[in-house]
Amino acid sequence: MRGITIRGCGISVPDKVLTNDDLSATLDTSDAWITERTGIKERHVGGITSQMAIEAGRHAIADAGLDPSDIDVVLLATTTPDALVPATSATVQAGIGVPGGAFDLNAACSGFVYGLVAAAGLVAVGSGRVLVIGADALSRITDWDDRTMAVLVGDGAGAVVVEPVDGPGDLLSWNFGADGTLRHLLRCDHGGYLFMDGKEVFRKAVRVVVESAERAIQDAGIQASDVDLLVPHQANLRIIQAACQRLGIPEERTVMVIDRYGNTSSASIPLALDDALRSGRVSPGNHLLLTGFGGGMTWASAVLRWGR
Ligand code: ACO
Repeated sequence: MRGITIRGCGISVPDKVLTNDDLSATLDTSDAWITERTGIKERHVGGITSQMAIEAGRHAIADAGLDPSDIDVVLLATTTPDALVPATSATVQAGIGVPGGAFDLNAACSGFVYGLVAAAGLVAVGSGRVLVIGADALSRITDWDDRTMAVLVGDGAGAVVVEPVDGPGDLLSWNFGADGTLRHLLRCDHGGYLFMDGKEVFRKAVRVVVESAERAIQDAGIQASDVDLLVPHQANLRIIQAACQRLGIPEERTVMVIDRYGNTSSASIPLALDDALRSGRVSPGNHLLLTGFGGGMTWASAVLRWGR
């Protein structure tokens, strides 16, 4: 039996920062409204998916003490590829100098958790190390005159090196979900802008996140009280708070980076994970619950017992 462990982590965000006050200068909105309704204070914009993914990937490989030649597969979760063809992961593979294969995965904001679990599957059938990256440049598909979307989104990338280990490894449980009948709630057509029915997404998100997280906790053979750190998709502070309350996980045990990054889709969970690691909030043996939801709709959760 071959399991996985996460050996390195890295992130990248574009230099340009847009504060709520910056947005209020051009839109009919305010810092007070955005802060109260979403928890967002600022976001990074102007990123290019491949470039952010390359930088995050390089940081993760360096953090693992490895060389690009030590990686077998680049798995890029993104909703905003540089182009329809080729896959952005190929640009990332070449940019980092990874000798192995590369493919993209689109499960919207759940993409990173889908990618992590897919990497565990690759390892189980014989792959070596997989570089899993979540990267999105939502600013490129946002209508900056539409206050409902403009205040929510940001750009970024986060990456982890997934390494094979003998035995069951650190991934204790996972589940995926999707409901394509809800695709109208959150969508972006070719050449168009992101559209979201915020209220409906909010309602549905809380329900599916809680159900999916509860199943992952149960399948891992632990209790909610055993979760040392919840690493949720960062879409809205109030969604995270509502999910915490229903799951019985105190907010102090949750990673919140939405104030600094906004909603970065596939990048949001690895950005949060990296923040938790850098600030010393993760110790070997800790139970981490990763959970995400997004367009599709899709959702996914995973429980890890941190091994490093
Ligand atoms: N600034 C000021 N006022 C605003 C803004 C804004 N940016 N946007 C809407 N309003 C107004 C509305 O017009 C409305 O005014 P009214 O009461 O006079 O009609 C009022 O504020 C309330 O609007 P609601 O839409 O009811 O606000 P709500 O509390 O639902 O918050 C939000 C909106 C933040 C979008 C919320 O619904 C949400 O977070 N939804 C889920 C987002 C999400 O999780 N997305 C998932 C992934 S996103 C992705 O994948 C890209």
